[in-house]
Amino acid sequence: MITKIHNIKNITTYDPILDEIVVENTDSIIIENGRIIKIGLEDEDWIINHELDAQQTIITPGFVDSHTHLIFASNRSNDFSNRISGKSYIEIAESGGGIKSSIKSLRNISKDQLLDKCLKDINNIIKSGTTTIEAKSGYGLTLEDEIKSLEVIRDLNQEAIIDVVPTFMGAHDFPIEINNKNDYVSLICNEMIPEVAGRKLAEFCDVFCEKGYFNHEQTRKICDSAKKNNLKIKLHVDEFEDFNGAYLAGELKAISADHLMKSNYKGLIHMAKNGVVGTILPGTTLFLGLNTYANGRKMIEAGCDIALASDYNPGSCTIYSIPIIMALSCLYCGLSIEEAFKGVTYNAAKAINRQDSIGVVKENYFADLLFWDINSIAEIPYWFNSDKLSMVMKKGKLI
Ligand code: NIG
Ligand code: FE
Repeated sequence: MITKIHNIKNITTYDPILDEIVVENTDSIIIENGRIIKIGLEDEDWIINHELDAQQTIITPGFVDSHTHLIFASNRSNDFSNRISGKSYIEIAESGGGIKSSIKSLRNISKDQLLDKCLKDINNIIKSGTTTIEAKSGYGLTLEDEIKSLEVIRDLNQEAIIDVVPTFMGAHDFPIEINNKNDYVSLICNEMIPEVAGRKLAEFCDVFCEKGYFNHEQTRKICDSAKKNNLKIKLHVDEFEDFNGAYLAGELKAISADHLMKSNYKGLIHMAKNGVVGTILPGTTLFLGLNTYANGRKMIEAGCDIALASDYNPGSCTIYSIPIIMALSCLYCGLSIEEAFKGVTYNAAKAINRQDSIGVVKENYFADLLFWDINSIAEIPYWFNSDKLSMVMKKGKLI
């Protein structure tokens, strides 16, 4: 099956060879079996099965959301009400809200109900141009409930139109029923990780390395076990305090370190040296009512590649729109439009180890494409409601 897209205004994409955002004035894109096989005018006689008129739109890569906690069961608007009456995220967590309340509801919901809820979310998420999403477990915190969450991700890949990349995050918090934190770390290392990896239910392992959650020693142990079991490392670091998490991410050679709101410069340099992608989550800063946005400019100066993601979850960020995340990163984190665009396409793909197949518009890459009724990519964060997005294509099929 060969599809030809014609009447394109231009293709705007990051080009990994030129290392810049390029605007290609091109006539057509040829797609076969979900992949781009030819860009531009050609002499070859393709047997075209299907033609699509782009109606003079700009084509960009589909957005990659490299950090979400999609696998949750219920809403936490109570936390939100408590926050606007003055309580902090940590205070809410300590008084029975927070991650622990999401754990209760996830344990009580059936796998089918959870799958249904996530499918509904994905149907909304697609509307703002996300064509690949990473999703974490982490609201189960028993072997059984973590497996249930990861099996939902596996099933979403059959039932949803977009790809969902699985991350195991048993180290999201300590379950209330345990008496000793280190016993739970041992359970993660010796039972959960081998089972999850053995059943190929996850590609990444993530840890909430923060004061009051997992300390450096516990984080190291979990990451060592993950690496032995062929899981790649992602970390939540320095969200509320400088916990030297960025430096640890460098030492552990994580694929990405995320949040980084309070990271010190030495840590950022160490991340850059070790090729750790810095992922900024400005939706969380906004939703928590804080003004401590991560300093993207400083990270770029330190030499880090910057990805942007939503952190979509029921407690600290219900925003899933990538254009809104781009706007926040430009307004508050010091990124240019081009840096933000690269952060939600190529660098986001890099943060989930998919930079060779998605995140750019290029021959041999998947035809995950967005069609925009705009004149330049500056209008993506400018019209951040996504109403200028006229079509979304996933692996060659219009959604
Ligand atoms: O990335 N920081 C830890 N995890 C999420 C919040 C999860 C929740 O509050 O449910 C985050 O912000
Ligand atoms: Fe998160």
